[in-house]
Parts: sequence; structure tokens; C-alpha cells
Amino acid sequence: MLKHIGARPPMKAFGPIGIFDSGIGGLSVLKALQKELPLERFVYLADSAHAPYGEKSEHFVAQRTHAIAEHLCAHHHIKALVVACNTATAAAIHELRLKHPMLPLVGLEPALKPALALTRTGHIGVMATQGTVSSAKFARLLSSVQSEAHFMTQACNGLAMAIEQSTTPDQTHCAQAQITHLLQTYTQAMGRFGSGPGEIDTLVMGCTHYVFVENALQALVGPEVQLVSTGVPVARQTQRLLMAAGLLNAEASDGVSQPVCLLTTGDLQGLQAAALRWLGLPGEVCQAVPASLHDT
Ligand code: DGL
Repeated sequence: MLKHIGARPPMKAFGPIGIFDSGIGGLSVLKALQKELPLERFVYLADSAHAPYGEKSEHFVAQRTHAIAEHLCAHHHIKALVVACNTATAAAIHELRLKHPMLPLVGLEPALKPALALTRTGHIGVMATQGTVSSAKFARLLSSVQSEAHFMTQACNGLAMAIEQSTTPDQTHCAQAQITHLLQTYTQAMGRFGSGPGEIDTLVMGCTHYVFVENALQALVGPEVQLVSTGVPVARQTQRLLMAAGLLNAEASDGVSQPVCLLTTGDLQGLQAAALRWLGLPGEVCQAVPASLHDT
């Protein structure tokens, strides 16, 4: 748990921001949050023992989301929660808002609207999990923009899991080969990429895991295609909500409290490897969560 100064009860603005994802994908959002909000403390929970969410039932993902939100509120006294997972947002954000009316909450959705502002050809690709693309929330989002461009939506089964496994030391090699194969398969299935008429010139990464294979994806679709993710807008929205609630932390770290704490329900080594590789964070900031959170 994050430490607080002496016996003094923590001021609410000093509390950490909670973030969670089915696994390590949300670290891409944490990175943006750290950059935008350098004075804040963060507690990140990777539910890696239950990944991938995108290929599980909506009911299961909603249950995990509620259990994790409860855990972060009860044990880490978070002052806000960022659901750094498109799939969990689609499954549970509405109910989460009802259950935690006082908690500033930020969810993620595939960046279809920002993509509209960027496309020149009017052809937009969307990669996301099966859970996200088959959700009612995504259907509503798509229908709100569908008349303005041509959207090619692709459910990418297996991709988030392969990215998850790519940080587990003994699975790295095999997972990398799987990532390459899946990226080729899914981009080919979407159609032609480029800046010519009828070609997809804007590609939405609608799953936080995919940001970690952005370079490989860019190499496949070509330099003219713009890849769109949601980390920065989500960080700015979090900042706006905290400011409106008077919860922005104005003080630099006291040197006692850890600025970042990373938790996992899964393999600790995998999280440590991901934290070092993608955020430059040392292994000591990672911990396993108590078994009570494992079964909901
Ligand atoms: N990273 C998650 C998302 O943004 C889900 C990946 C998964 O577990 O399927 O949707």
C-alpha cells in the first residue's frame, strides 16, 4: 500500500489516482498520466490473471471491474479512477458511475471522433477487442459517426494476450512471432492502407495494449497512415476532473510516499519486465495483490 506522512490522516488531494486494466496495456495510459500530472501519485492494478478481458463475457468483465474498483478504494484510498481499458469501460462504466457517484471516473473508448478530424481519405480502420466491438456502447459510438466516414472495424482476438505474454521472460520469443502474425492478418483483413482514394489513412488503436506494438503496426501500414490512441486525451480529462473537484495535488512528492505503485493479480516478473521496458520503473514498485481479489 502507498505510505502516508506520519500519523496525520492524508489530505484527499494527496491520495493516489487509481488506474486499472486487464493487464499491462493500461501502462500506456499511466505513461501519459505521469507526463501530464507529474505531481500526482498513482496506483496501477493489472488484472493479468484474468486477461484477456476482450474474449470473456461482459458479465465477467463487469464483475472484475467492480471488484477492482472496490479494492482500490478500500485499500489504497484513491481519489479518482481511470479505467484504462476500453473493454472494461464498455462493459461497466455506466454501473461504476452509479456505484461510486462521488469518485471522479474516467473511462476509455476507441478514438473514432478524433480520427474523423484527422482522416483525409474518409477511410478509418479501428482495431479493438471482440468485447469492445460487440458492445452496445461501441455500437452507439459508431452509429454517431458512421455517416461522416467509412469505418472498417476489426476485432483482434489473441493480440492483447500475445502482447501480455511478450513481457514474460520464457514466452517472449514465441509471443513476438504471434504478434507479427496477428498484426499482418488483421491489417490485411481491413483493406488497403495509404493516402490514395479509398485507402485507410487513419488507424485507431482501440485497446490500450496495442500502443505497445505501435512501431510494428506503423511499419506494416506505412508511414502515411496516422495511428490514433487515447492516452493523452484521457490524461487531460483526468486533470480537468481533478481540478473541477479541487483534488489536484499541488505539492511535489514528500520523498517518503512512492509516486507509483504497480500491482498485479498475475505474474509479478511479467509486470516488472513491462514496467522496466515501457516506463523505466524499477522492479521494487511492483507487488502482487492479495489473493482475496483473485476470485469474485
Ligand atoms: N487493454 C484492454 C482494452 O483496452 C483489453 C485487453 C484484453 O484484455 O482483451 O480493451
